[in-house]
Amino acid sequence: MCPKDNHLQIPDLSSPLRVGRLSFRNRVVLAPMSGVTDLPFRQLAWRFGAGLVVTEMVASRELVGNASESWARLKSSGIDPHMVQLAGREAYWMAEAARIAADNGADVIDINMGCPAKKVTGGYSGSALMRDPDHALSLIEATVKAVDVPVTLKMRLGWDENSINAPLIAKRAEEAGVQMITIHGRTRMQFYNGTADWDAIRAVRDVISVPLVANGDVGTKADANAILKRSGADAVMIGRSSQGRPWHAGVLAGAVTHPDSAAIADIVAEHYNMMLEFYGADIGLRHARKHLGWYLDRFAPQLEPQEKAAIMTSTEPSTVMSRAVAAIAAGSGRQEEKDAA
Ligand SMILES: Cc1cc2nc3c(=O)[nH]c(=O)nc-3n(C[C@H](O)[C@H](O)[C@H](O)COP(=O)(O)O)c2cc1C
Repeated sequence: MCPKDNHLQIPDLSSPLRVGRLSFRNRVVLAPMSGVTDLPFRQLAWRFGAGLVVTEMVASRELVGNASESWARLKSSGIDPHMVQLAGREAYWMAEAARIAADNGADVIDINMGCPAKKVTGGYSGSALMRDPDHALSLIEATVKAVDVPVTLKMRLGWDENSINAPLIAKRAEEAGVQMITIHGRTRMQFYNGTADWDAIRAVRDVISVPLVANGDVGTKADANAILKRSGADAVMIGRSSQGRPWHAGVLAGAVTHPDSAAIADIVAEHYNMMLEFYGADIGLRHARKHLGWYLDRFAPQLEPQEKAAIMTSTEPSTVMSRAVAAIAAGSGRQEEKDAA
């Protein structure tokens, strides 16, 4: 280990983080995840103490075009501050969408430059923007100019290992007025393969002074402290490790302790009902299956595959709920959960 590492102080995950005129209540951020961090999930994560939660990405042009899915993604009831993530490839639509989001209650606008999906990069938004920093900057500048609320940026290390340009883009973004930067320690070409490179994030720390959030493969408190130490970041963002446990960001931040099996069963039932209410019964039932699968995998590992399949595919909400809740309440997953923290 380099001797000067011994002197590096890492921030306390439970301490607040100032971003511009805002103060986030702690330093564990729930990652934006399309198809996961809808309003019910964010409401739960927020209630259990996440420092900040972010909407699923909202396509800028679709929002301006009034698409109902975009408006659903923009909802925020009970969450403060309300951070909206926008994706797009043209400055005009990003600026218009930012204005709409801010006029409708967004306290922070985040720009998505990290999404690797072909559907998104094929349209030259998400991480494809990193291939053309000048163009990316035009989008960032337009967004910052369009709104009074802080604008933040989320990106990867670069497009591929031969084009690591996050430090360059981060520096220019800060000069353009961006107030916080999140780096997922992978390149676009890695998608979600391999492991996130926490040390590589430090090259961004070295060139910016606005708060830096480090992201990628953080599952435990030890991971969270290690990524802060290795990257020099001010906060951590967690995504997949919160699937099937909306309280996990709050646990890492020290805001809550692990729920016990009975409490988990109650949370699952509440989450399920929130989803049915938010989407309506038919669509809610389908969306909820993904979350149920995660809950059952974590907290009812004793279920035989056919029992799990029967719960997952039932179309009768009361049956789904009573069987899932019973399996989780009887589950043996809690100890593994505790060990993993
Ligand atoms: C299902 C899923 C959906 C995602 N959707 C988004 C998104 O809408 N916007 C975004 O910036 N990143 C998105 N991401 C990336 C995450 O925000 C995060 O950067 C990535 O999962 C790495 O963090 P983790 O290792 O803690 O999961 C998504 C990731 C997953 C797994």
